[in-house]
Amino acid sequence: MIFLTGASGNLGSAVLERLLKLVPANKVAALDRNPNRAKILKQKGISVFIGEYADKASLLDALKGVEKLLLVSGNGENALGEHKNVIDAAKESGVKHIYYTGGALNKNVQHSQLGPLTDSYITTENYIIESGLTYTIFQNGLYAETIPYFIGEQVLETGISFPAGEGKSSFAKRAEMGEAIANVLASEGHENKTYLLTTLPSYSFREIAEILSELSGKNVSYTSPEPEEYEAQLKEYGVSDSDIWYSLLLAAIIKNNEYNITDSDLEKLLGYKPTSLDAYLKETFLK
Ligand SMILES: NC(=O)c1ccc[n+]([C@@H]2O[C@H](COP(=O)([O-])OP(=O)(O)OC[C@H]3O[C@@H](n4cnc5c(N)ncnc54)[C@H](OP(=O)(O)O)[C@@H]3O)[C@@H](O)[C@H]2O)c1
Repeated sequence: MIFLTGASGNLGSAVLERLLKLVPANKVAALDRNPNRAKILKQKGISVFIGEYADKASLLDALKGVEKLLLVSGNGENALGEHKNVIDAAKESGVKHIYYTGGALNKNVQHSQLGPLTDSYITTENYIIESGLTYTIFQNGLYAETIPYFIGEQVLETGISFPAGEGKSSFAKRAEMGEAIANVLASEGHENKTYLLTTLPSYSFREIAEILSELSGKNVSYTSPEPEEYEAQLKEYGVSDSDIWYSLLLAAIIKNNEYNITDSDLEKLLGYKPTSLDAYLKETFLK
């Protein structure tokens, strides 16, 4: 049995979609904490358990007889404690192989801006390795889908205003990351391996503006305001506090080159060249 967490989320649903092309639905199970979403998942023919990372009893019940478990990282305040709980439950339930999706972080960056989230990624990886379970770790670059979220759908008219300075980041399409993860889950091997899922090279937002200018024939400008100025702009547009927090955080880590990654295993795991950033920008902004 292959057991997925986060299967209703953006990444998990991409994993599930691909997995169901590779293995029969009765060999797949998922965890969801929302009964309505659990019903939708069940319609795909898979087994679904109601449970939550923080509730160990729900996990112990769900993980009985599971061979492979995919833990999709959480993003709540207590993500690290929740991850540890899932890993402990996997060990106690006799799960044979745990797969974890975390972040692809630039090892040369000394002082991360990501705070507890970085700790959560790195400490979870170490906790898995020390658990003695057979593991596969996916270190994911930023989703390409975050770009329209940061720069807006009308970027060809508005230009880019984003406080990421000249920092570079690598991006990949979520669907392709999900496909690669499903390929690994459905095949044998990959024991105690760590894979980087992203596309190369890394780009700055100035370079993204240049690509968009070239593709559209318009002059797409790039400005990197001070974070306080940017925050005030977003407030004026009525953006919620949590979205402002997220945008400022992501801009700060990109400026700090934390997602400036120089290696990738995505092509190898997909079996074809992943979508380049140019192609992604073209299909997204020049429809
Ligand atoms: N690489 C990137 O650019 C990037 C960007 C954003 C986030 N991330 C990280 O990557 C993860 C997956 O991304 P995504 O876009 O698929 O996020 P998502 O759409 O929010 O999906 C996360 C999934 O995990 C589930 N989950 C989280 N905490 C849980 C818990 N305590 N118990 C049970 N289920 C839990 C969520 O359930 P609910 O819907 O019930 O919360 C959801 O199904 C995120 O959680 C975050 O850690 C990466």
